[in-house]
Amino acid sequence: MIRVLGIETSCDETAASVVALDGTSAPEILSNIVLSQIEEHAAFGGVVPEIAARAHVEALDGIIEAALADSGAKLADIDAIAATAGPGLVGGLIVGLMTAKAIAAAAHKPLIAINHLEGHALTARLTDGLDFPYLLLLVSGGHTQIVAVRGVGDYQRWATTIDDALGEAFDKTAKMLGLPYPGGPNVEKAAASGYATRFAFPRPMKGSAQPDFSFSGLKTAVRQAATAIAPLSDQDVADICASFQAAVADALGDRVSRTLTRFRLEFPGKAGPALVVAGGVAANRTIKATLEALCAEAGFAFVAPPLKLCTDNAAMIAWAGIERLRAGIAQENAADFVPRSRWPLDSVSAPMVGSGRRGAKA
Ligand code: KG4
Ligand code: ZN
Repeated sequence: MIRVLGIETSCDETAASVVALDGTSAPEILSNIVLSQIEEHAAFGGVVPEIAARAHVEALDGIIEAALADSGAKLADIDAIAATAGPGLVGGLIVGLMTAKAIAAAAHKPLIAINHLEGHALTARLTDGLDFPYLLLLVSGGHTQIVAVRGVGDYQRWATTIDDALGEAFDKTAKMLGLPYPGGPNVEKAAASGYATRFAFPRPMKGSAQPDFSFSGLKTAVRQAATAIAPLSDQDVADICASFQAAVADALGDRVSRTLTRFRLEFPGKAGPALVVAGGVAANRTIKATLEALCAEAGFAFVAPPLKLCTDNAAMIAWAGIERLRAGIAQENAADFVPRSRWPLDSVSAPMVGSGRRGAKA
């Protein structure tokens, strides 16, 4: 039996979790505590790094205590501490990693520094027991990537955004239209009563041989449409949201469909190929339906872990720790590990021009 305590503080969620694996049955999430800071940042329309770091300092020890209490395990029963060491807002990363180092040193436990993106990438093995290789579509406030997940520590980025992350495009669209933060859920809500064909917004990169994403042109088109018909009625806002969402789903579908084809070519022997989604944008029903249809057509399983494990949480970090321990690739000198605000999952693929922003969840 392995029990790992996970700690996540890379953006605006303070989270701790205990995950166990006994080697004979499915892994078990013994506790999963997530404290969202959304209310602290809402007035500013986005995550404020300084506020986030202070909120982590104030909350983290209580959250860890709660995660241990909930799990029924004592610190002595824990085999290792896994903490997010990047990428993300460096203030929060320092809080989480230093806390983990202190606990590990005081309790004589091994420490495992985890890449936040690896946490997202491996979640489908915790929830659905997926076998390697599979495809991951990560669509959150800071990331829009398609990653070929080939093994623990073996990831290849096949597509990324050349400008905005998709969640960011939703949030900026919401802000332009006067909808509250966080924008994604509010754009989806408004879109429900709108006409998706009223505005012919561009489908960025659609049909392009380059596999990547782009959303800033779409955002500009939304701004121009909104400016042209201002002041906006509720129906105008709903129509813009519905048209924006349709453009996003269409563009995303085109990009994903390309990578499904590539996966077939690169892993011809893989029976039961799967596409996994992660990140807050995966909650969007229009996007989900588009992806589901694509997967059904291409013979891929569509795997959407429960939303609370798709968005930021510490169970995925604890699980990544277990995966690394099991694979024998936990770092020997994690106590010296320095938090990294940028830390690509795939160090081989060249960074994109214009990407890798240092902001929230960069
Ligand atoms: O994964 P997440 O909770 O945090 C990050 O890692 O960023 O994702 C948050 C992002 C935000 O940009 C939010 O607007 C977007 O996910 N989001 C949505 C929806 N729910 C959350 N975007 C579109 N439709 C939704 N229903
Ligand atoms: Zn995340």
